Amino acid sequence: MEIIRTKVKDLLNMKAGEEVLAKGWVRTKRGNKEIAFIALNDGSTIKNIQIVVDKNPEMEAVLAKISTGACIGVRGNLVESVGSGQAVEIRATEITVYGESDPMRYPLQKKDTSFEYLRTVAHMRPRTNTFGAVLRLRSQMAFAIHEYFHSKGFVYLNAPLITASDAEGAGNMFQVTTLDLNAPLPKNKKGEIDYSKDFFGRRTSLTVSGQLEGELGATALGEIYTFGPTFRAENSNTPRHLAEFWMIEPEMAFYDLKDNMDLAEDFIKHLVRYALDNCFDDVKFLNDRYDPELIERLRSVIYTEFVRLEYTEGIRILEQAAKDGVQFEYPVFWGADLQSEHERYLVEKHFGKPVILTGYPKDIKAFYMKQNEDGKTVRAMDVLFPKIGEIIGGSEREADLTKLETRIDELGMSRRNLEWYIDTRRFGSCPHSGFGLGFERLLLFVTGMQNIRDVIPFPRTPKNAEF
Ligand code: 4AD
Ligand code: MG
Repeated sequence: MEIIRTKVKDLLNMKAGEEVLAKGWVRTKRGNKEIAFIALNDGSTIKNIQIVVDKNPEMEAVLAKISTGACIGVRGNLVESVGSGQAVEIRATEITVYGESDPMRYPLQKKDTSFEYLRTVAHMRPRTNTFGAVLRLRSQMAFAIHEYFHSKGFVYLNAPLITASDAEGAGNMFQVTTLDLNAPLPKNKKGEIDYSKDFFGRRTSLTVSGQLEGELGATALGEIYTFGPTFRAENSNTPRHLAEFWMIEPEMAFYDLKDNMDLAEDFIKHLVRYALDNCFDDVKFLNDRYDPELIERLRSVIYTEFVRLEYTEGIRILEQAAKDGVQFEYPVFWGADLQSEHERYLVEKHFGKPVILTGYPKDIKAFYMKQNEDGKTVRAMDVLFPKIGEIIGGSEREADLTKLETRIDELGMSRRNLEWYIDTRRFGSCPHSGFGLGFERLLLFVTGMQNIRDVIPFPRTPKNAEF
């Protein structure tokens, strides 16, 4: 009789007594002369289902082909389990081997399971418990993000990945070109590269942020969000930076800075709560295996009111800390960009909870931020998290045409390239705000993983673009 496959996640919730078919990859095989035990995982859950095989000559021949990493299908009876730690297990009546796995060459051996090693076999690491858990959480979080904004009536807007403008004005973009770099490059009269000969007829790059296009959306549709990959060619080899990372950027008409902070705080709490409510098995696995304070830390964020603090006050606290003997690698003074050590001091040592820092000096923030009356600071907001530092960056936007144009000029940026953006301030300008959440930074927090390379399937970092 034909029988359809049941996923392991569902098998583990079924009552004993039925004939079932499971398919998946072998995690372990052990046993004795009479009986073999196989732990089978199909990626649907962190848990394995135990397969019990009574040995006979026919089964012995099949078992000989089965080792860690092999792919098999198992037909059998779901029975109550005596001692596997699960309620049920499968007594196999028929096993099909789909793909063997040479035990001498299988890259995921017990002997080296360090994260550093696993990064070198990133094509296989989704088959480990840890990466299974992380990747399921990643997928669930993406779903929760869409659900959150849709429930609030936000429109999902797709910003382009190839662009001619540097949204952050930081100049660390990856260039996109079809010009043949092995041939002499076309030059104009001034001796510069002639981009009119390039694919788009101008110089283009991969986007660092979808925000500017997001503002076009918000000033038409009211409330939008983007969610897509962004690219930064910053040579930052840290556990918190990727060259290719995903960002969620909501942008809202008629929101001021306070509304923006309220949304950011509610959003992030919703996501953390979602992880605890819907992915508890995976979170618990990561908690028990690596980070015994993970669940506690996640819960504490949900029930804590974030501190809201002016940059100037933050600097005062840090200066005092330095006077009291705290050793910072980078100097602290008004006007300095905060380093992750400073952010973490405020969050972990001083307040013991997430902090939203506002009112940054305009000189360390992007051109589009709304300027305060003091002429020195802008209505920026960074959300700082324990273990991570900055998880969100955002601001109220400069809605005044003249102020925006003046700032673009002051920074020596090209107004001509941004005419389309400036049009939002020429025609029906409105107060508006938005922010960007780094998806992988969120995942660092939710999974408790230490390195951002371990919360994205195929990390892109300086000198590394394998797989
Ligand atoms: O602070 P950032 O640069 O802000 C923007 O890009 C704004 N356009 C966002 C907005 O207002 N719509 O980046 C936003 C967030 C950071 O807080 C951080 O979480 C993440 O993106 N991020 C990175 N994550 C991983 N690797 C990198 N290299 C990152 N750079 C920024
Ligand atoms: Mg930032």
